[in-house]
Amino acid sequence: MPRKIAAGNWKMNGLRADLDVLRAIAAHQAASVEVLICPPATLIAACADLPLGIGGQDCHVSAYGAHTGDISAEMLADAGARTVLTGHSERRADHGESDAMVAAKTQAAYRAGLRAIICIGETLDQREEGATLSVIDTQLAGSVPDDATAANTVIAYEPVWAIGTGRIPTMEQVAEVHAHIRQRLADRFADGAEFPLLYGGSVKAGNAAEIFAVANVDGALVGGASLKAADFIPIIDALAATSS
Ligand code: 13P
Repeated sequence: MPRKIAAGNWKMNGLRADLDVLRAIAAHQAASVEVLICPPATLIAACADLPLGIGGQDCHVSAYGAHTGDISAEMLADAGARTVLTGHSERRADHGESDAMVAAKTQAAYRAGLRAIICIGETLDQREEGATLSVIDTQLAGSVPDDATAANTVIAYEPVWAIGTGRIPTMEQVAEVHAHIRQRLADRFADGAEFPLLYGGSVKAGNAAEIFAVANVDGALVGGASLKAADFIPIIDALAATSS
């Protein structure tokens, strides 16, 4: 069975004053669930000693060099991260990251010894055109490197139209896409059945249990509801309840 993962993506939120939130989340571990927060890079070193998985939100493809403002995977690892998000839709949209760039960043993560959470998902236009599964195929083929394994890679399905909107797909839609991702991974990788698959997009305490009950959903990548311990802890508990 793949390990269940409750991951929080703090995006561009979080100051040192918010480290108490991470302490509260770290104090609430569930044995069957890996709890992971991706804070802004400025907070990684400050929370690296907490009993909590810590991840970066992006990395450069190079280990070092003249790239003002960028952060390498090696730097994230040095600061205490063990995981990094790659290909989040906000980076694909705001920074024009292509699938090839996401694959290169993912390989940079492997080079630095980090696990990658590769994010994929369709826009609303793509869903309404009936293109969801072909978009997923293109993103999986282009963003997931050939040397991905269930140990170094997690796939997060985040429909762009569900992120920060309060709108979530039907559970049938989640099931369809997750089953499709599982099949594609199984077709391509010897251990494709073991890659953890996360759902992301408006996950909250109120909808977590029904999402975690869907086949091939091994956890969640949570944005807004990971910023407060009182919002995130019930999501951890909902995942733990489905793990036994
Ligand atoms: P929300 O949970 O705020 O919709 O964000 C999801 C997300 O983008 C996590 O990476």
